[in-house]
Amino acid sequence: MAPDQSQPEGPLLGVEALEVAYGDLQVLWGVDLEVRRGEVVCILGPNGAGKSTVLNTISGLVRSQRGSVHFDGQRIDGVPTHRIVRRGLAHVLERRRVFPYLSVRSNLDLGAYNPAAKPHRAEARAWVFSLFPILAEREKQLAGTMSGGEQQQLAIARGLMSRPTLMMIDEPFLGLSPQMVEEILRVIQRINEAGVSVLFIEQDVHLALSVCHRGYVLESGRVALTGTGQELLANEELRTVYLGI
Ligand SMILES: Nc1ncnc2c1ncn2[C@@H]1O[C@H](COP(=O)(O)OP(=O)(O)O)[C@@H](O)[C@H]1O
Ligand SMILES: [Mg+2]
Repeated sequence: MAPDQSQPEGPLLGVEALEVAYGDLQVLWGVDLEVRRGEVVCILGPNGAGKSTVLNTISGLVRSQRGSVHFDGQRIDGVPTHRIVRRGLAHVLERRRVFPYLSVRSNLDLGAYNPAAKPHRAEARAWVFSLFPILAEREKQLAGTMSGGEQQQLAIARGLMSRPTLMMIDEPFLGLSPQMVEEILRVIQRINEAGVSVLFIEQDVHLALSVCHRGYVLESGRVALTGTGQELLANEELRTVYLGI
């Protein structure tokens, strides 16, 4: 991607010393993480490590106790979710939540609800239909009657309808067939080639590192390791703990 002179300095997303608690249970203990413009970054780590909490806090669904989140040169912690979406940050939640009793088309159009995206709705729809041809064929089908993989495609497509510069996807591959995993991997690459940065969560190290530029391994609410895919794969600790090599 060619650098744009008008863009603010620094990373697209910067998370610093983030601490989050649910009531008395603290689950994030000073998490630092960044996504640079044009990057695909993955958060790895076991169940309960706090991966979803990181994304939920970035998108304003969960409030932090300490630390900061900057997006595109502005501080966003404390900003309501709908305003964060409007600034260009989309979040596809865990378990691909679509509106089951609405059509594919209505689900997509709701993704472009915010005033910044709405005027570009037709153009955005044409783009997501080119990425996911099945959604064009199923435009009138109720979302809840589609397969898990198709619903995941719809959830990602709905996120793209808001015309994000950063797309966060929580476990995009969970429970999908190998063929559908391939398809979603290809789409992540195409989205990224179109200039969208991506931050996603995945527990399978090989799968995650096959598509991301860099990764963060989260363990018990702390970043245990970070580096490029190759650096992580070469790391002894990661090899023994996650890969059993
Ligand atoms: N809404 C919530 N209320 C209370 N505890 C929560 C809530 N969401 C997550 N947790 C707890 O926080 C920890 C981290 O959860 P989560 O961020 O979902 O981890 P991961 O996505 O890595 O599996 C877990 O112990 C989980 O039970
Ligand atoms: Mg999770």
